[in-house]
Amino acid sequence: MREPRPGRCKPASIIIILAIPGNAAGFTLECVSIATEAMPAIMRSRYTLVMPTHKPTIGILTSGGDCPGLNAVIRAAVKSSERLGYDCIGFLRGYEGLVDPVSYMPLTARNTAGILTQGGTILGATNKGRFSATVGEDQRVAIDPALLAEVAATVRQLSICGLICVGGDGSLTIAQQLYEHGIPVIGVPKTIDNDLGATAFTFGFDSAVACATDALDRLHTTAASHERIMVLEVMGRHAGWIALHAGIAGGGDVILLPEIPWTFESICRKVRERESEGKNFTLIVVAEGAHLPEGGTVHRTDAKAEAAGYHQQVKLGGIGALVTAEVARRLDREVRNVVLGHLQRGGNPTTFDRVLATQFGAHAVRLIHEGRFGEMVCYQPPNIASVPITAAVRSLSRVDPASSAVQAARALGISFGDADERVSPFSDRCLDDTASRG
Ligand code: F6P
Repeated sequence: MREPRPGRCKPASIIIILAIPGNAAGFTLECVSIATEAMPAIMRSRYTLVMPTHKPTIGILTSGGDCPGLNAVIRAAVKSSERLGYDCIGFLRGYEGLVDPVSYMPLTARNTAGILTQGGTILGATNKGRFSATVGEDQRVAIDPALLAEVAATVRQLSICGLICVGGDGSLTIAQQLYEHGIPVIGVPKTIDNDLGATAFTFGFDSAVACATDALDRLHTTAASHERIMVLEVMGRHAGWIALHAGIAGGGDVILLPEIPWTFESICRKVRERESEGKNFTLIVVAEGAHLPEGGTVHRTDAKAEAAGYHQQVKLGGIGALVTAEVARRLDREVRNVVLGHLQRGGNPTTFDRVLATQFGAHAVRLIHEGRFGEMVCYQPPNIASVPITAAVRSLSRVDPASSAVQAARALGISFGDADERVSPFSDRCLDDTASRG
């Protein structure tokens, strides 16, 4: 462990001092920005003392899209680091807080009390900006070396002995690049999509599934009352975990995933089959990243971000409307579309996500304490373990079409919009429990 030094910030920076007044409705971050020119001369000397400390300091940031459980990670990391004798600071708006204007807040057990149950992140997060390091699957964009140098300077000046980066595949790709630049990084996986390799589950997923299942429960009764076909579009960029789990839990009739090619004929066949059994309503769940029968996804690009020179992932969304229109046209039936969108990312974490996120936060501090940088905490049931960050971002976790969850769904008559619905779900498949996560 390096010797702790007083926290210092370079004179050109703007310092942001934050306070969090307790607020039952959520978090109010009060920011006071102080331009260095406006400071008394004594503070403008070679260095500006920002946070004198006698303890080594752990930094933490939350990057990418938010998800329920981020605050539980922050709280767990802060509480466990305090008990091991570390100070803790949280960088604001993900990696952006590490570079000019460097922005962070001290984190203590006292000012993080009560955040365990709350969605979002008290540190803020962004999946845009100067650090975009992944634009699409298998596409890594190198971070500007000048930015990396700035991050290294911030870490040095604030005496950060370990930086916990909480994020999904894009954010962990950034973490890996920081680590390769000599920054003592620990990764914590998060995403509602549950698509990161090396961890059985990411926190946020269970909460998103609970939200999507609740939506299906509600759609079920109204669809049945009006004898309608209802399409629910859920998130899931590369993987259909949310659609699969919510579809099973919420009694979906058709589930469309990025992992299983599907056709409109097959969907319509399922609707007709149900009608022939006297079931005059159908629930269709579609993952936003499901590929169209003719190939490709329904998405748009962010022209503004592109014009600003930021590398962005395409914005998925719209496949639900497309499926709705085509099924309505082919069957001449009333079909309605619901896009669940960011509701899946908001709200309180479920019990499962609170427990998982708490374990991740505590384990991240343990890894820092043991000097095991460049690793990412992961869940390998029943234990929390760690793997090199590279192992997590190298391979995405997708639904295995031969997994037991898919087989069980097929056994119940759930259609995946493919021809396989007509063969026995068990006959021609080998069930390998160790290989499947479903
Ligand atoms: O990565 C998680 C995710 O929820 C994806 O499923 C979705 O495509 C994306 O975030 C949307 O992110 P945003 O709208 O914040 O750009």
